[in-house]
Amino acid sequence: MTQTPTRKLIIAIDGPAGVGKSTIAARLARKLGYANLESGAMYRALALKAIEWDTGFDDEAALMRLAGNSRIQLEPSLSGNRVLLDDRDVTARVRETDVTEGASRVSIHPKVRQWMVARQQEMGAGGGIVMEGRDIGTKVFPHADVKIFLDADPVVREQRRLEQIKARGSPAVLPSATLAAELRERDHRDRTRAASPLEAAPDAVVIDSSKLSEEEVLCRAEELVQQRLSAEQHLSS
Ligand code: DC
Repeated sequence: MTQTPTRKLIIAIDGPAGVGKSTIAARLARKLGYANLESGAMYRALALKAIEWDTGFDDEAALMRLAGNSRIQLEPSLSGNRVLLDDRDVTARVRETDVTEGASRVSIHPKVRQWMVARQQEMGAGGGIVMEGRDIGTKVFPHADVKIFLDADPVVREQRRLEQIKARGSPAVLPSATLAAELRERDHRDRTRAASPLEAAPDAVVIDSSKLSEEEVLCRAEELVQQRLSAEQHLSS
């Protein structure tokens, strides 16, 4: 019997801010030899362009004109994505507070989302990717091979986000109360927006990581991928 080459899967990881999606996506992708794609970085890049071009976050038509004239690229790497806006490296800049707030606001617009989803579908079409975001399992790849919805208690997420910012050595660390308030506001906007609100796809596996270590979450994610790969092998043998 000939061994069928393993198909390269599409793995969707969704969940709220500060839950550790990027870390898990990067580590899982590394283990599988896949590319990790941080879809949120694309909303961040558009928000940065809006700031630079003095375009209001609430002006959907103007944002769409900006998007049409922008080149937003994600370059997967072992530690995360390098973000390029019009061929300029904006990886660090898009993590700053004003861009974070802007990304949350530009992402409520249906047309902006449509534009992003189409780009993201192109990027992942060939498989062999772990894409993380808010709507990957519901809208970008509703037929993803593995869907994980990573969740955690808001207090735990606030703590993780604070540690992440400190680890990055950001010069302007916000007081933790401000950070917590911002995280809650973004959460609220993500979950209540009319277009593709943050929610688990009906067929996603929900992992509550509040009491799990990074290793434990990674292990669970790997198990799900292995189950899927084994099911494929059975079908093709
Ligand atoms: O994951 P992140 O924090 O970099 O995302 C930035 C913002 O973009 C976040 O407020 C929600 C939005 N986003 C989205 O609406 N859909 C995605 N697939 C990814 C991010």
